[in-house]
Amino acid sequence: MKKRIHIFDTTLRDGEQAPGFSMNLDEKVRLARQLELLKPDVIEAGFPISSEGDFLSVKEIAKTVSSCTIAGLARAKKGDIDRAWEALQYAKKPRIHTFIATSDIHMEHKLKKTKEEVLENAVWAVEYACSLCPEVEFSAEDATRTNVDFLCQIVEAAIAAGAKVINIPDTVGYALPWEFGQLVKTLKERVPNMDQALLSVHCHNDLGLGVANSLMAVKNGADQIECTINGIGERAGNAALEELAMAFHTRAPEFDQELSIDTTQLYPSSRLLSDITGMQVQVNKAIVGKNAFSHEAGIHQDGVLKNPLTYEIMTPQSVGLSSNQIVLGKHSGRRALSARLEQLGYSFSKEEMEKVYEAFIAIADKKKIVEDDDLRGLDPSGIDDLSNRFIKETMKEYLNRQ
Ligand code: KIV
Ligand code: ZN
Repeated sequence: MKKRIHIFDTTLRDGEQAPGFSMNLDEKVRLARQLELLKPDVIEAGFPISSEGDFLSVKEIAKTVSSCTIAGLARAKKGDIDRAWEALQYAKKPRIHTFIATSDIHMEHKLKKTKEEVLENAVWAVEYACSLCPEVEFSAEDATRTNVDFLCQIVEAAIAAGAKVINIPDTVGYALPWEFGQLVKTLKERVPNMDQALLSVHCHNDLGLGVANSLMAVKNGADQIECTINGIGERAGNAALEELAMAFHTRAPEFDQELSIDTTQLYPSSRLLSDITGMQVQVNKAIVGKNAFSHEAGIHQDGVLKNPLTYEIMTPQSVGLSSNQIVLGKHSGRRALSARLEQLGYSFSKEEMEKVYEAFIAIADKKKIVEDDDLRGLDPSGIDDLSNRFIKETMKEYLNRQ
């Protein structure tokens, strides 16, 4: 049987922290409801100490969403942990996620603490969180720039203190895939009580490697991946949930692991996030970008119309889209044009089709994308009924040349 990889969605916490992505209470609850349909194992709903709004959102989501674990973030401080528990206590499956930085640069310049103090602080925080909440996750912030011996030591101590999940964040997106895979392997081999906790990873995308690093971690024994819808998050974002999910789905034989994600909810989740925040994904974004299932080049259109597998490695339906899109533009061929005209109820003889195609190219040269309304104007008898003045002029000009 395949091993289950736990998906920890942090769209509402790490994602929401990114500039331009803040959401109000209602918006967060709406998104959390959609996330529940997507079926991640954990939803990190926010950072309760950070604001009253975040606190109320985590509390409301804890009350509303029952099928996923609800996590709340807390620094390794009493005030943070108390506030997180105050919000999370209503959840059916609550998790306090506490963290402290462990790299030399963070300990010296940010925390101004010694290694010993950080270790002691981490153990205290995990024990205290465990006294309140049945499930505690511990993160060693900036783990990939942390001395490996110290990382092993603090992970072992956090597990001994009661942490059920140990998270290894690549906080600044610095790791390369093979280094990150090796780090996961080292922890598995060197931490004596590692089998008593799940090993989680949290990869930022500063070098565009968030998804690759997460997959390498899984190949080397990681049990949980932290990620976000549309890859949003601090700076360049986090590993994109939709990309991870479709890598597992599309290349299933490559993995001894599987996810609980309902991939048909990927596109609806992505759209809802964009609609709520007003931040659109780039058109060529993998899986959920506008162009991810669109074809304009004639050769590709011809192939896809004959068999979609020629140029599509996954079906649009598998990510929640109703169909692929044949985009008509100046690169399109006769086959795609006549297929679309047929759908619109037009049929032309072979000779007529040649003329129609020429007219179509005349329009496509002026316009980037030729829409259905433009095509209706290709029937010369319909010109006078056309509402689109630009197309009318183009067609008249074209016909006058004949
Ligand atoms: O990137 C990071 O280190 C984090 C931690 C709080 C898990 O977001
Ligand atoms: Zn992060």
